[in-house]
Amino acid sequence: MSEINLGITADMHVHLRDGAMSKLITPTVRSGGISICYVMPNLVPPITTKQQVINYHKQLNDIAPETTFLMSFYLSKDLTPELISECADEGLIHGIKCYPAGVTTNSKYGVDPNDFSQFYPLFEVMEKKGIILNLHGEKPGIEEKDEINIINAESKFLPALRKLHSDFPKLKIILEHTTTSEAIELVRELNSDKKEGDDITIGATITAHHLYLIIDNWASNPINYCKPVAKFHKDKKALIDAATSGEPWFFFGSDSAPHPIHKKQVHVDVCAGVYTQCNSVAYVAEIFDKYNKIENFKKFISDNGIKFYDLNEKILAKHKGESVWLIERENKVPEVIANGDVEVVPFKAGDELKYIVEWRKN
Ligand code: DOR
Ligand code: ZN
Repeated sequence: MSEINLGITADMHVHLRDGAMSKLITPTVRSGGISICYVMPNLVPPITTKQQVINYHKQLNDIAPETTFLMSFYLSKDLTPELISECADEGLIHGIKCYPAGVTTNSKYGVDPNDFSQFYPLFEVMEKKGIILNLHGEKPGIEEKDEINIINAESKFLPALRKLHSDFPKLKIILEHTTTSEAIELVRELNSDKKEGDDITIGATITAHHLYLIIDNWASNPINYCKPVAKFHKDKKALIDAATSGEPWFFFGSDSAPHPIHKKQVHVDVCAGVYTQCNSVAYVAEIFDKYNKIENFKKFISDNGIKFYDLNEKILAKHKGESVWLIERENKVPEVIANGDVEVVPFKAGDELKYIVEWRKN
């Protein structure tokens, strides 16, 4: 293998921030090899109005007009069924992101996953309009007796996913940035009745960094610290197996989450988030290569996500004239990326990767 045509690529979970950070990071969606990305709404304040969606989309599009940005709302009491319906009809949003309060960056405006009932009127509209519910699948620990910690928070969340699927079987739900073998097994179980060609309603994104990391790697290095945290060898193995399997419910969502260097290299309140955007495709390709599964790479990085999001021809048309090519060639990850206002340390800074991407006209 020396070159593969990946066509139109998709990263279904990115954090592009705003201000100076956004100016630095947003162009790296494309330089990392991604055509279409799904943008997280956890800004300050979070994105909960139509005008915010329009403004944020314009801001990103002005910075990087060749990239397609799919937009989301932040699940909160401020959303109404009418608003969701209107924004869905106008093609302004593709999903709504649910953050359990307190589990990660800017999640303090989030929800209590023990009781989703107040959002059921929203879920009904989403189910009807094909709007995706994106779950940050960690249960917050409120009292000591809950025995919840960063290692078991994802597993403890899984019954909530099971219940949501049983109450809204046609609602498309994505368990974002899965990190445990239990989550992978549940996603497989909930899809076990599916035959080829059936509509899939339960999906899971897998990041690049969780294909590399275990607990030891972030315990000694805050650059590798993110939420949900990387777990154990058996979990990493399950994630690699799922990502490389070609199964249509597993697809790429980098959860690339940049933080300024001075918020990572500290000894208190380390920000959660690993920045992978500038080499997102290359990091993942290396894993597929290592496990001799490169033939399934396009499914993971392109086809499965585009299919789950049911992206229409109008969205894809913009990208039909060019393709992302994966090239086997040495590619050194920068030590830092910076624009004078802000500095970010990428994942595996300074390492040599085996692959690089190029954009070519068709
Ligand atoms: O590590 C993370 N960083 N996990 C998240 O869920 C949020 C993200 C961020 O926004 O920094
Ligand atoms: Zn995220």
